[in-house]
Amino acid sequence: MTLRSVIVGCGSYLPERVVTNAELARRVDTTDEWIVERTGIRQRHVAAEGEFTSHLAINAARKALAHAGIDATDIDAIILATTTPDQTFPATATRVQAALGLSGGFAFDVQAVCSGFIYALAVADNFIRAGQVRHVLVIGAETFSRILDWNDRSTCVLFGDGAGAVVVRAMPDTTQTAEGRPRGILSTHLHSDGRFTDLLRVDGGPSTTGSTGHVRMEGKEVFRHAVVNLASVLEEALMANGLNAAEVDWIVPHQANKRIIEGTARKLGLSSDRMVVTIERHANTSAASIPLALDEAVRDGRIRPGHLVVLEAMGGGLTWGAGVLRW
Ligand code: ACO
Repeated sequence: MTLRSVIVGCGSYLPERVVTNAELARRVDTTDEWIVERTGIRQRHVAAEGEFTSHLAINAARKALAHAGIDATDIDAIILATTTPDQTFPATATRVQAALGLSGGFAFDVQAVCSGFIYALAVADNFIRAGQVRHVLVIGAETFSRILDWNDRSTCVLFGDGAGAVVVRAMPDTTQTAEGRPRGILSTHLHSDGRFTDLLRVDGGPSTTGSTGHVRMEGKEVFRHAVVNLASVLEEALMANGLNAAEVDWIVPHQANKRIIEGTARKLGLSSDRMVVTIERHANTSAASIPLALDEAVRDGRIRPGHLVVLEAMGGGLTWGAGVLRW
């Protein structure tokens, strides 16, 4: 039987503590006005001491399982996208697996920085279409606050912590919406270009410095690549499905910068009210930002059955990608 992946549940979790721009302006030479004008960010959530990426991921995963109406024991695989694992090894996904009381199936992490969730979803989709698994828990979870240089105003104002998760189910590829359209993940599109590793990176790692390192970014250059790469992967994704931009109900973009999100909408000729935007409250939560935004838009009723939803992201690597799905 030919199979298709269908997202049947989602969930998310944000740490309790909120850090406003005003609070950051007391720490580094910045202002609320500068941050809002250049990025759209007003606040971010920051994990408490002793609260790890795995804890955020577990909370989001439990909510996604409840939303899907399935037991953890139904999960065959956990794929967790993160750049901020609890430890260099083992994979944080295995901690989630244990916390959910699972000892069967398999769990591993995916590292593609801010594109991580799209990469993880693409991997899950391929496992499902190959017939190897029935239910996959795909998670994006980050504690970026732990790898920020809190004295570097050009990066510390941009990021936040959080987690989002989806449950993906293998269903026959004849699965349709009420309107008779194919339901589920229609395609995924991944890209990377390692010539640009230095534009966005941490200045440490297990094999180089033996330390974790801090985020370093050539913001302007990354911005330039983001606008070009996101427009091109969105065009590719729509063309692969014979769709045009007017047919898209919602774009759920990675939340790096409001100006990038609005620029992408303009390039596609879409009104910006078709973009799900959470950056004001969440900032850039890297691999967590898409599932966080998706969960919000599903729960508040913006994304409804039958809607055509496009996910897109770009991050360190450089990596970028998109996914097209019918909810
Ligand atoms: N407060 C006040 N001033 C600041 C701050 C701050 N927090 N940060 C930088 N500045 C200053 C700079 O020092 C510079 O001053 P100068 O002109 O005197 O040198 C000035 O503001 C302009 O700085 P730019 O870096 O040119 O500002 P820009 O308009 O490019 O905005 C930003 C910076 C927000 C980082 C933007 O470039 C951006 O969003 N880049 C893309 C980020 C992104 O998409 N990342 C990808 C995903 S992230 C991931 O994968 C981990």
